[in-house]
Amino acid sequence: MEKHSRITKETLLSLKEKLKDGVLPQWVLADRDMYDLEIKQVFGKTWQFLAHESELKEPGSYVTRWIANDPILLTKTKSGEIKAFLNSCTHRGTLLCTADSGKQKSFTCPFHGWTYNNEGDLVGIAVGNKVYGEEMNKEDWNLRPVPNVDSYQGMIFGNLDHNAESLSDYLGNMKWYLDMMLGRSDGGMEVQGSPQRYVVEANWKVTAENFESDPYHVQFTHKSSKELGIAPNDPFFPGHGHQVVLDNGHGINLVQFDDTGVSPIPYQGMPESMWPMFQKNLNVAQNDMVKDTFFVGGVYPNLGFLQFSLPLLNSEMGLYNFLNFRVWRPLAPDKVEVWSWHLIDKDAPQEYKEKSYVTFLGTFGPSGLLEQDDAEIWSRVTQASNGIMAQDKDLSYNSFLNYLMGMDRVQPNEDFPGPGVAYPLCFLDTLSRSMHKRWIDLLLAETPVKEEVR
Ligand code: FES
Ligand code: FE
Repeated sequence: MEKHSRITKETLLSLKEKLKDGVLPQWVLADRDMYDLEIKQVFGKTWQFLAHESELKEPGSYVTRWIANDPILLTKTKSGEIKAFLNSCTHRGTLLCTADSGKQKSFTCPFHGWTYNNEGDLVGIAVGNKVYGEEMNKEDWNLRPVPNVDSYQGMIFGNLDHNAESLSDYLGNMKWYLDMMLGRSDGGMEVQGSPQRYVVEANWKVTAENFESDPYHVQFTHKSSKELGIAPNDPFFPGHGHQVVLDNGHGINLVQFDDTGVSPIPYQGMPESMWPMFQKNLNVAQNDMVKDTFFVGGVYPNLGFLQFSLPLLNSEMGLYNFLNFRVWRPLAPDKVEVWSWHLIDKDAPQEYKEKSYVTFLGTFGPSGLLEQDDAEIWSRVTQASNGIMAQDKDLSYNSFLNYLMGMDRVQPNEDFPGPGVAYPLCFLDTLSRSMHKRWIDLLLAETPVKEEVR
């Protein structure tokens, strides 16, 4: 069997040059060696979203998650601290906790029965005294903690890199926008239900980019939503607004419904009784954004978000606002597991929360109207990227993806009141280019220089 090519520093530098010209070769969407390097350099080095604190309500609560191939067990201890461990028994490595979530004081391994408390301490060894003698020190065999765990606005992240920068530095100026999305209500946000999960045959870069930086696709991919009357019929929707390029590959699109800049559904359809609370908790610029735009963007590399209400004309389903966070967990070069959370303000009326959840399910749940449109297109990119022509690595042939939209043509809005570099429209590839620049920089970090081997 032919050996795969290796990804060298030269390869990556040539990608960087191409990106400056606004193009990337298609082979990067389906190459196994590229994928393996990404797992190490991107997912092994960046802060990864694990859970929202509302999912771990009481001491003893736990959830199980993944950072790419690393199973993670998150617990809330007796003192209320949140801890994260590799969900793998230290005896012989078995997946320790197989449930999605629950509440319990200890975890007993199904293989030979070792037991850990929710602080990660090994507290019980089946017939330990008889089989190991008294000299075995249990403390040497505690669960392995995730090297870095921290949270911002209730969002808990983990980082597998021992030398990682702080979460605060990593998020950088994205924090201002997270404050806007998550901090508008006194009680913050809370997760409704469990995260939805499903597998899509697509490369993680395709799904991440589609959410964070590609409002342009709505025109065609979601054409039926216009025909159904649940999205404005304006051919430029959702191009109006600002695309904001933020630190470290993060970004947000602040989408206006039309070119007036005034939303027909103020405060994203939240109950009027809550508007004064938003005004109190947000600064003027944030308040104006929540009042007149909706948000779609991402925390690089693989946390997408969406906060909006569709102006549904035919039923009342879409009049309800929701915040959707989603992680694109890579499973293979052509496969992602989507983890998708529904969040709504803790202070919202109960009936509103329930309708918000149903609105989320009907639009961006696994069988949601818009989700189905997207998932079909994502997998078609994969279908068309695996063949000999698309995988040709000789860059003298034309097999490039086009990131030229707005390049050298659209200038930033210097008067934009929020942080970041803001461009005055959302049909733009500027944020995609920023994401892919960050991707190459991560891949290049500490990459050994070596000759290409075939
Ligand atoms: Fe867990 Fe043996 S692998 S007790
Ligand atoms: Fe979409």
